[in-house]
Amino acid sequence: MKITDRSDLWWKTAIVYCLDVETYMDWNDDGCGDFEGLAHRLDHLAELGVTVIWLMPFQPTPDRDDGYDITDFTGVDPRLGALTDIAEFTRTARDRGMRVIIDFVMNHTSDRHPWFKSARRSLDAPYRDYYVWRDAPPKKQAQTVFPGEEDSVWELDERTGQYYLHSFYRHQPDLNIANPAVRDEIATTMGYWLELGISGFRVDAVPFLIEPPEGVDIGDPHELLRDLRRFLQRRSSEAVLLGEVNLPYEQQLDFFGKQGDPPELTMQFDFLGMQALYLSLAREDARPLAEMLAARPQLEPEAQWANFVRNHDELTLDKLSDAEREEVFDAFAPEDWMRVYGRGIVRRLPTMLDGDPRRIRMVYSLLFSLPGTPVLFYGEEIGMGENPEQQGRMSVRTPMQWTGEPNGGFSRAPTRRLRAQPPSDGYAPEHVNVEAQMHDPESLLGFIRSLTRRYRSSPEIGWGVLDVLPSGQDAVLAHRITADVGRFVALHNFAPTPTIVSLDLGPVAPDSQLSDLFRVDRFDLDEQGRIDVHLDAYGYAWFRVVEPGDRRLT
Ligand code: GLC
Repeated sequence: MKITDRSDLWWKTAIVYCLDVETYMDWNDDGCGDFEGLAHRLDHLAELGVTVIWLMPFQPTPDRDDGYDITDFTGVDPRLGALTDIAEFTRTARDRGMRVIIDFVMNHTSDRHPWFKSARRSLDAPYRDYYVWRDAPPKKQAQTVFPGEEDSVWELDERTGQYYLHSFYRHQPDLNIANPAVRDEIATTMGYWLELGISGFRVDAVPFLIEPPEGVDIGDPHELLRDLRRFLQRRSSEAVLLGEVNLPYEQQLDFFGKQGDPPELTMQFDFLGMQALYLSLAREDARPLAEMLAARPQLEPEAQWANFVRNHDELTLDKLSDAEREEVFDAFAPEDWMRVYGRGIVRRLPTMLDGDPRRIRMVYSLLFSLPGTPVLFYGEEIGMGENPEQQGRMSVRTPMQWTGEPNGGFSRAPTRRLRAQPPSDGYAPEHVNVEAQMHDPESLLGFIRSLTRRYRSSPEIGWGVLDVLPSGQDAVLAHRITADVGRFVALHNFAPTPTIVSLDLGPVAPDSQLSDLFRVDRFDLDEQGRIDVHLDAYGYAWFRVVEPGDRRLT
């Protein structure tokens, strides 16, 4: 397969950047970010090398789950802008070479959604069957996603005397996907956003979305995803579904679509790889990550893994064993406030790594060198920290820090009017902001820009086949990615001690060289593809195997 034959699969080499309009840039100084502010920051995103902007929910909301509780799936919250802004924004972004995808949150609605308000009026209300009702909670109950905040996934509705299902908060009643009318609403909502220039969806909570209500037979629940993908492709050949599926790899494969069946999700986040990464960081030992990567299934060419280090939620460690989770907690979340739901950490990466620039850079180098598509959460590019004063998950959802001015230049409104405030510690805007880093190639921002450039000029990372190579050292991850265009090799040292790695790439053409993609240097390989490479403490290196006659620019 030639890469050029499939260059229309744009997501294979994309760089995704997740942001919340509410906390990105406030242009009218009311204390809340808006589409106008975001539009003024497109330059920053373009210069960073972002190719896809993922917008967190911006629809009308009572905001009791930071916008993941929606009252109108086809609207824009008036605090953020209007529908016309979305159409303008997607057009302008595309002009600058960026696509826009949006969060798609149709597992549930807000309890203030007109459908639910109608549904709870009486047992035979027109929208009653849009939701899942029972006379009594089933004996075998699913566990709540928010232990400590909710104690059940069923809530009694006083007026009609029945219980409704809510997989998340009690103010987020689950939609009933066994009802064909609900399935239609889901599809028409997708179709609607495509018409406004959206290139795809980050599908929220996918396993919950397709799970039928207990005791209801809807046949194969994956048929819903297959239907949506078919519909999507009819409406827009370029659109993608990027799914949130935090399940073991084997089960994730079913969400891409079983072999022989029509496809389902286009991309999925690699939650398991992410969790193994933190175990490796905590142990200063690359083996947990190496083992996880070796177990990660190779996907069909059209499908893709989305790699990430942090997202807007807690850093979930739910797939680690109890003992492993404790190790990561001990290393990175020693205080109570840093932990939530018994499974996750509410800090950003730089604070967890005590601000050590060597370690932070090693982790981002790894993110961009892993086969798949990297996803950044806003603020990662400048090393923002969390605000411990803000409860739970909200601690990492602080305003983007643009300058060293009050409110980080995000807004000129009085600080008390901001829904989320920047930290006031060593990660405050006066210490960490875009303006201070944007012209400094030595800054973290400069470094991340160099990673995005190298990632984009190394399409084999997005396309190729991964092998984890023996590095001879527990602390060092050595991985190779092989694609038609060439072979890529990366080394990452998880330990605080410099080392020499003896690489063995296997037979190579005579006179092949190893080209260092960051230090712009070349080294001779012997015919067995062997070479010794020096790595700094927490060091990293990216190489390409260059054979005689290779005409690619390195
Ligand atoms: C997803 C979102 C999370 C939200 C939940 C309910 O997991 O990432 O922020 O609370 O869905 O919509």
